[in-house]
Amino acid sequence: MELRLPALHEEAEFRRAVAAVPADNPTFLHFHRADMSLADYLDVLRQQALGIDPAPGREVASTFLFAFVDGRIVGRASIRHGLDYPLGPMMGHIGYAVLPEFRGHGHATEILRLAILHAQTQLGIPRVLVTCNSGNLASIRVIEKNGGVFADECNDPRNGMRERRYWITPRD
Ligand SMILES: CC(C)(COP(=O)(O)OP(=O)(O)OC[C@H]1O[C@@H](n2cnc3c(N)ncnc32)[C@H](O)[C@@H]1OP(=O)(O)O)[C@@H](O)C(=O)NCCC(=O)NCCS
Repeated sequence: MELRLPALHEEAEFRRAVAAVPADNPTFLHFHRADMSLADYLDVLRQQALGIDPAPGREVASTFLFAFVDGRIVGRASIRHGLDYPLGPMMGHIGYAVLPEFRGHGHATEILRLAILHAQTQLGIPRVLVTCNSGNLASIRVIEKNGGVFADECNDPRNGMRERRYWITPRD
């Protein structure tokens, strides 16, 4: 698996992934609009990585990467570069998702492993906070398999749901 942005010649694969985004996970693609070309979308993602014009409530630079396996987009990771924004302590550094047809094959576990490595080695974030909904048993398992140490539970102010917070530190 590689975490990276699609190349311009991979627009067909990108479009297939866009079409596969499920109704139960509409936030799969951050900052994307249906009328955007891939080139325009890549520009937006590069700007977000520099912290230019971030979304309200997420006033922090963020790196958005696609998970490729054998040339197919199976999922994505979003890495927020800091926690110093209103929802930071509740959302954590890293979000991830896998497209439905690719779930149950260990992809999320590998996406989170690579995203942690990226945060630690490329972004200088040694201690990574990862959070998930307390009812999301698959995501809890993904975090625990990546060495997540449970810290506490908090309320998501957007919907009142419980969120579990985990810290992940570099492995020896
Ligand atoms: C949660 C999600 C990322 C998991 O992706 P995935 O690629 O299927 O996950 P993996 O295959 O790497 O691992 C899932 C683990 O959870 C376990 N699992 C799956 N469903 C489960 C359930 N209902 N109860 C308990 N464990 C469950 C699997 O058995 C596996 O553990 P194992 O390797 O010990 O067997 C995916 O379902 C998804 O994208 N959901 C929507 C977005 C989302 O919830 N993102 C996370 C936000 S924090």
